[in-house]
Amino acid sequence: MVVSTDSLASAAGLEILREGGNAVDAAIAVQFALAVVHPVAGNIGGGGFLVARLADDTRLALDFRERAPAGASKDMYLDASGNVTEDSWIGHRAAGVPGSVAGMEAAHDRYGTLPWSRLLEPSIRLARDGFLIESRHYADLHGARERLARFPASAAVFLPGGSAPAIGARFVQPDLARTLQAIADDGASGFYSGWVADSIAAEMKRGGGLITRGDLSEYEAVWREPIEFDYRGWKILSMPPPSSGGVTMGQILNIVESWELGGPDLAWHSPEAIHLAVEAMRRAYADRNFYLGDPDHVEMPIERLLSQSYADSLAGTIDPKQASRSEEFNRVPLESPQTTHFSIIDEAGNAVAVTTTLNGGFGSYVVVRGTGFLLNNEMDDFTSKPGVPNAYGLVQGEANAIAPGKRMLSAMTPTVVINPEGRTELITGTPGGSTIITSIFQIVSNHIDFGLPVRTSVDAPRFHHQNLPDEIRYERGGLDPATVSALRQMGHEVRERSGISGDVESIWIAPDGTRYGAADRRRDGSALGF
Ligand code: DON
Repeated sequence: MVVSTDSLASAAGLEILREGGNAVDAAIAVQFALAVVHPVAGNIGGGGFLVARLADDTRLALDFRERAPAGASKDMYLDASGNVTEDSWIGHRAAGVPGSVAGMEAAHDRYGTLPWSRLLEPSIRLARDGFLIESRHYADLHGARERLARFPASAAVFLPGGSAPAIGARFVQPDLARTLQAIADDGASGFYSGWVADSIAAEMKRGGGLITRGDLSEYEAVWREPIEFDYRGWKILSMPPPSSGGVTMGQILNIVESWELGGPDLAWHSPEAIHLAVEAMRRAYADRNFYLGDPDHVEMPIERLLSQSYADSLAGTIDPKQASRSEEFNRVPLESPQTTHFSIIDEAGNAVAVTTTLNGGFGSYVVVRGTGFLLNNEMDDFTSKPGVPNAYGLVQGEANAIAPGKRMLSAMTPTVVINPEGRTELITGTPGGSTIITSIFQIVSNHIDFGLPVRTSVDAPRFHHQNLPDEIRYERGGLDPATVSALRQMGHEVRERSGISGDVESIWIAPDGTRYGAADRRRDGSALGF
């Protein structure tokens, strides 16, 4: 079973599984296919994380997060008066050193079974022969047209004739096909050295960016220990730093474990249950924003943060009837951001969860001339200035300050849930910037506490709190007026978002072994199996 945001990408994974490839092989094919058919977030110029539990119970976390170039510095996004500029978001200086290609190669080296070049075939075909533009591609490209048009190489690829390609048009990407072919032929060195790397370095020179040939050749993906914790007898596996996903979701779950969610007084989406979850989120995000960063650069009290005694002490500060306060703050994201997640399980039971991103939709908007791919704007995930919110409104501290070679803190939360009998039961993850962690918390809690079927759980409306700004945000139409007013009476600021939250791609493995795929109805996702 393969669940991703795009039917052609899911089909690429299925093709590999049918041929006898394992879930890791399929994940590699899906990652590259998404770079072609889902350019808003799928990527080879970005990064991400893979969490897996293999059939033999091996537990994996692979970090292919971008790194700050060697030329990066703490205050690089501040102007002469100390204000944060838009350089962390748009253009060449926003890009971190890409990690995706190295990540895929590292995964293949250890766990792949089919030849590497075979895994690139579906993506090369999709780039060379093209695919049909759907309304969502058009909407994404049309929405980003002014920013893409600032960069001639980006306009040449994504705005042929000056505008987004029409719905139904065949979209071919010959430059990208050549780049993918170089990767198929030479592995990661086809990207990090050779003509592709020369093109990236030349593009950086042209646009005043920082990434050099040296940064590219030094990049390495890193195997890390997954975050593992218990929740009501279940085991949750998720991503460790440099993602905050596993730690922060773990803290939220550990805190709410003090109450019987799903019991008679705490029904699903009752104001009382939402209140407790929100108070847990508020506390966990305060720690996230203060403590967490790249484990190779900062010391973090992970063990303490994830200890049940610490969670219990935080739970003890929650009044079940009254909101506590984070400090007032407000800032609206610049525009609809994008990331993407896919979940895969193969016949043998190897379970893989991958979340990958350019950060904002179309990343930095910069296509590397001659290569057909976009570079990320992941540098904005760093703290540009302590106390000043980033694009997701996250107010972060020194632990996540910019430094050469450092990985920026992420919220991505690819997750595998193991039931009390030791069986893999749920594979999940989502985009959504700072809301990723709270979305996946809700998917886990919907499953374990409230017994929602996977389809219902993925589609159910979601809410979010991230400490600052001090407000509950919920999806449009997602809470009824009586619930909203009950939360306000408890002292919460409550705000309805104009849009949707996330794009969850989940697989539930039923007790009889049947795999149920649930792609989020918020977008055009696709669950394919055989
Ligand atoms: O790594 C992170 O946390 C962010 N760069 C993810 C961005 C994202 O999810 C945007 N998607 N909607």
